[in-house]
Formats: sequence, structure tokens, C-alpha cells
Amino acid sequence: MSDTAAVPQGLPMARDAGPFDPPRAITRLRETRPVSPLLFPDGHEGWLVTGYEEVRQLLADTRFSSRQDLGIIHLPYETPGMPTQTEPSPPEPGLFLSMDPPDHTRLRRKLTGAFTVKRMKQLEEHIDEITERQLDELAKLTPPVDLVKEFALPVPSLVICELLGVPYADRDSFQRHTTKFLEREVTLEDKMAAYEAMTSYLAGLVTGKRAEPGDDLLSDLARDDDLSVEELVGMAFLLLFAGHETTANMLALGTFALLEHPEQLAALRADAELLPGAVEELLRYLSIADIFFRYATEDIELGGVTIGAGSTVVVSVLAANRDPRRFEDPDTLDVRRNARGQQAFGHGVHQCLGQQLARIEMRAGFSGLLNRFPALRLAIPASEVKLKTDMTIYGVHELPVTWTDVAR
Ligand code: HEM
Repeated sequence: MSDTAAVPQGLPMARDAGPFDPPRAITRLRETRPVSPLLFPDGHEGWLVTGYEEVRQLLADTRFSSRQDLGIIHLPYETPGMPTQTEPSPPEPGLFLSMDPPDHTRLRRKLTGAFTVKRMKQLEEHIDEITERQLDELAKLTPPVDLVKEFALPVPSLVICELLGVPYADRDSFQRHTTKFLEREVTLEDKMAAYEAMTSYLAGLVTGKRAEPGDDLLSDLARDDDLSVEELVGMAFLLLFAGHETTANMLALGTFALLEHPEQLAALRADAELLPGAVEELLRYLSIADIFFRYATEDIELGGVTIGAGSTVVVSVLAANRDPRRFEDPDTLDVRRNARGQQAFGHGVHQCLGQQLARIEMRAGFSGLLNRFPALRLAIPASEVKLKTDMTIYGVHELPVTWTDVAR
């Protein structure tokens, strides 16, 4: 690494350009060096990729292994006190997010049938009902209320629990545990303890389903003798975790973003046909699953530089989705924009399996919320909203809102 003066020391995280925009240092890097060297806090050298085309090319190339994408459990270079890893550790059984083909292909294939556009369309009406019921509950409360707790988290959580066949009544414990994986400053011991608590809970659940299958996705998987109980547990964990944390953050942060852009909110309220495009634009503009890790299995050319075999590579999806070489006026939220090609769901073999489900949930969620609560607004100044800069998936910790008439 020659030009160390320009090398960022650790990943810039502070949202110094505003709650919805990439850190300034990340934007500067994308402009000057879209594939940049990066020094991790432990002194280990790697790369940071911020350009749209470079991110796309990287995610499409399976020589960049996902076995370094251990975000769920290990976070090797961000967890204080973690020793430097020289090569990826073996993936946990079933966690195909952190596997490469052919192991990844084998497990993902077991699920593709359950997540087709057609299967998700069949669920749409039911998702609308779940959303409406949650809005009824919300309407009964006396504002101000926390929109995360009362709406953004329950909707995707209810949907994924029902789809998988996980009792919603158990949500307190698994939501608490899954939050632990997303906290940046958590010790490895705490992370592992939470993972073990989750896996023993899920092992009981899938063993029960293997003995007595019901009418749900985990029962369908449990019927498949090719999958071990450990694999079933890993897959269940991944789906449960990915299925509610992500969409919940999009619903809450998306609402915050719309409330902060009243002209966009008004356009969306005036024309319901803008909704699918607006969801795509919010996905692009917010890119809540911003940072993932890859590992170069050989020397690979990317954006005019050679990434050496064995390097850790960090991808910033938010930076890529704000690249002016791909999107005009990228830092403007524009619900009329054609945001096709946005990479908020990733790209390549690991592209989000739940993306159709997430889109349906967001359409139902935003449309229901805006229609039912025409006077919705923040109950605290925007600058006081607690941002999830301490978590690996971005969002807001709480979103206090109110909807009573201002004049009253
Ligand atoms: C993978 C984002 C909702 C299940 C991914 C990836 C991204 C992502 C960026 C790729 C990670 C990588 O390449 O390393 C999102 C966002 C969501 C969302 C922004 C909501 C707005 C969901 C939902 C599910 C889900 C609702 C439901 C089950 C998965 C799974 C994978 C995945 C299983 C792993 C795919 C693989 O490795 O082949 N998601 N996701 N996601 N997502 Fe989502």
C-alpha cells in the first residue's frame, strides 16, 4: 500500500452529512478513489469499494468469497479485542449468507420456490390484512408513540413469524437476541451467548416440526431429509433475522425520510401510483444494509487496482447507490425517479432472497400509514431522533410520532 496518507483508518461511520447521507469521508473516497485501501482498527490492511460499477462488478464475482461476510456472528475487524483473522473461519451450518457456491447454491435452492414473485403475490392480501390490523392498534393509542415499537417492527415480525411458523409470542426473546448481532460494540462472548440462545430455541422448534410438520415454511424444510437439524436451525435463524430487522428499519427510517421531505410526501399522498417507484427510491436513497464484507480468494483486478489474494474487502452499498456516475442528482430523494438498478438488495448470487416480500411489506406499510394518518409528524425535533450508527443495519432506534391536529 503506497499512498498511506489517503488511506482511511477504520471505516468512517459518523453521519456527519445528515441522517440519510453517507459519511462525508465515504463520499470523498468514492469521488477520488472508488476502490481504496483501508486500514482496519487492528492494523490489518484491506480495501473499501464505494463506486456503483465497482460494487456491482465485485458482487457479481464469486472469487470474492462471502465467507468473510461474517457480520452476523464475528465482525472480525470491528469487534474490540478480536484477534486478526488470516483466513475465513468455517461458516455456521445453514447460514448460507456466509457461504460460497456450491454450498451456498445447495441451501439457497431449497428456498427459492418459497420466495418466488408468484408465491409472494399470493401473500399480498394477507400482508395487507396484517398491516391494517396493526394500524388499527396504532390508531387506538394516544400519541406521541414510538412508530418503531408500535408499527415498523411488529408488521414484518408478524409476517415472517407466520410465514416460517415461529410463535409470535416468543418475539421478545428472539428480537432481543437478534439485536445483539447487529450491535457493533458488543463483545464476542455476548454475541456468541445470544447466538447460542437463539440456536437452542430454534433447534427445539425445528425438531418439533420434523416430528410433526405443520403448514409453514420451516415445516416444509424440516420434511427434507437432506437437511440436518443444524442446517435447519441456521436457515431458520437467517430467515427470522433477515426477515424482520431489515424491513422494520426501512419502514421506520423511510417514514422519517418522507417526513423530512414534505414535498415528496405530498406527491406520494396525491398519487398512489407513485408508490412502487417510491419504495425503490427509498431503498436506494437509504440503503440500510450498507456495509458487507468479502474476501479475495485470488488476485483480482477491480477498478484499475489489483486486490491481493487474502484481502478483506468492505463494500459500501450506500455510497454505490449515491454514485453520480449512475444516478443523476443522487443525494436528492425523488419519489418520481426511476431507481431501477439500485443495489440495496445486493447483487449476484447472494442477492436478497426476501426482496419481493420486503417490497410488498413496504408498499402495504407506507401506503397504510400515509392514508390512515394524514397528519402524521415527528413528535420531537429531527435532530433528536436516535440514529442506529451503532448497528450494522442502519435505521432509527425510536421514531416518536404524533398525528393529532396541530390546531387542537
Ligand atoms: C440477503 C438486504 C429483507 C432474507 C440480503 C442482502 C442484502 C439484503 C443487501 C445481500 C447480502 C450479501 O450479499 O452479503 C435486505 C433489505 C431488506 C431485506 C434492504 C428490506 C428492506 C429481507 C427479508 C427477508 C430477507 C424480508 C426474508 C426472509 C434474506 C436472505 C439473504 C438476504 C435469506 C441471503 C441470501 C443469500 O445469501 O443467498 N438481503 N433484505 N431479506 N436476505 Fe435480505
